[in-house]
Amino acid sequence: MSQKSRQEVLQEARERYRHRGRKGRSRLLDEVSALCGYERKYAMKVLGGKRPIAGSGRQRGGSKPVYGEAERRVLKEIWLAAEQPCGKRLKAAIGVWLPHYEQEFGRLEERLRGRLESLSAATIDRLLAPCRVTLGKRNRCGTRPGTLLRKEIPVRTEHWDVAGPGWVEADTVAHCGESMEGDFCWSLTVTDVHTQWTETRAVWNKGQHAVRQRIAEIEAALAGFDACPLKKTATSLCFADGNPQARVMLIGEAPGRDEDIQGKPFVGRSGQLLDRMLAAVGLSRTAQDRESAVFITNVIFWRPPGNRTPTDAETQMCLPFLLRTIELQKPDVIVCLGATPAQRLTARTDGILKLRGKWVTANVSGRNIPLLPTLHPAYLLRQPAQKRLAWRDMLSLRQMLDAH
Ligand code: URA
Repeated sequence: MSQKSRQEVLQEARERYRHRGRKGRSRLLDEVSALCGYERKYAMKVLGGKRPIAGSGRQRGGSKPVYGEAERRVLKEIWLAAEQPCGKRLKAAIGVWLPHYEQEFGRLEERLRGRLESLSAATIDRLLAPCRVTLGKRNRCGTRPGTLLRKEIPVRTEHWDVAGPGWVEADTVAHCGESMEGDFCWSLTVTDVHTQWTETRAVWNKGQHAVRQRIAEIEAALAGFDACPLKKTATSLCFADGNPQARVMLIGEAPGRDEDIQGKPFVGRSGQLLDRMLAAVGLSRTAQDRESAVFITNVIFWRPPGNRTPTDAETQMCLPFLLRTIELQKPDVIVCLGATPAQRLTARTDGILKLRGKWVTANVSGRNIPLLPTLHPAYLLRQPAQKRLAWRDMLSLRQMLDAH
C-alpha cells in the first residue's frame, strides 16, 4: 500500500474509531493492524490520536527496531513454504524448517540463526506483517453467497450487544494449498459472542467417501495396467494400506515376499518394525482419526523377482500412479522409507544416510509437501544400531505434525 493511501485509510479509521464501542474498536484495530502491519498497541495510539499518522510530518519516536530485513527475508521464505502459518505456529516450526532453508539458500550466520530461533511469536507476526499485506490474503475465497442470501438475510454488522450465551459467529477457512481445485479440508470455527467460547472442527468438504472412492479407482486402474513386466511374475498387486484420510503418507520401495502374498505393503518383518516405530510417536495404520492415522504405499506396486532392486524403467512406469495417489490423498507430510522414494520425489541423488533426517519439499501437482527421508525398516533390521537415527527422524516427524 502506498504511503498516501495508508494515510487516507488511517484518517478514515480514526473517525470510525472515535464513534465505536469497545468491541467495534477492537475489530477495527485488528483490521488496521493487519492492513498496515502495525502492532496493535501502536495502532491503538495512532487511531486514538496519541501518535501521528506516519508520513504526516512528525518524526517517529520509540526505540530502534531490534530485528530487521535479514530476519524478515529468512522468515518470509519459511512462512511461504510452510503455507503461511500464524506466528505461534511458525515459531514452533522454525527449528524444523531452518535446515531446509539452509539447504536451499545456503548456510546462515550463527548469530542470525540464533536470533531466528529466539524470535517470539509476536515479533514473527510483526516482521511478517508487510508480507501478509501483499501475499497473506491468498486471494481465494470459498464463500459463494448468492444475491438472494445477501439481500434477504439481515446480517448484523455493528457491534454485538448480547447479554447471554447462545449467539455465535461461525467462520470457515479452506486449507486448500495453492488452489481451490479438488477436495480439501476446511476448519470451522464457532465462537459464542458472549462467553468467547470457541470450538474448532475440521470438515472434509466432500466427505471421506470421495477420497476413498478415488483411491480405490487408482487401485482398479493399476489392476488393469499390463505394461509393467513385474506384474507377470508377482502374485498380487500391492497398492496401499492405512487410512486415506491420514495426514501422513509413508512411501516405501517395493513389496517383498509377504507383501506379495497378502497384497498389502509392509506386512512382513520390516512392516512390524515400522508399526512399532509409528506407535512410538502416536501413529498407526489402523487409526480412524486423521491425526493419528497413516497411509502407506510404495514406489513399485508389484514384487520384483527375488526382491531385486527395481529398474529405472519399472520405477518410471509406476511413478504416475504414485503421483496421482499423492495428489488425491493430499498428505500434510510425506515420509520416504529408504533412498528410492526420496530420490524419485525430490530429484536428489544422495544416499539415504545423507538424505535422512532433513526435511525437503516435494512438489506434486503444484502443491509443496514437506518430505522427510528416513531409514528403511529393513535396513534397521540389518543394522539395529542405526535405530537411534530413525528415532530422531520419528521425533522430527512428530514435531512437524504438532507444529501444523
Ligand atoms: N519394503 C518396502 O519397501 N515396501 C514394502 O511394502 C515392504 C518392504
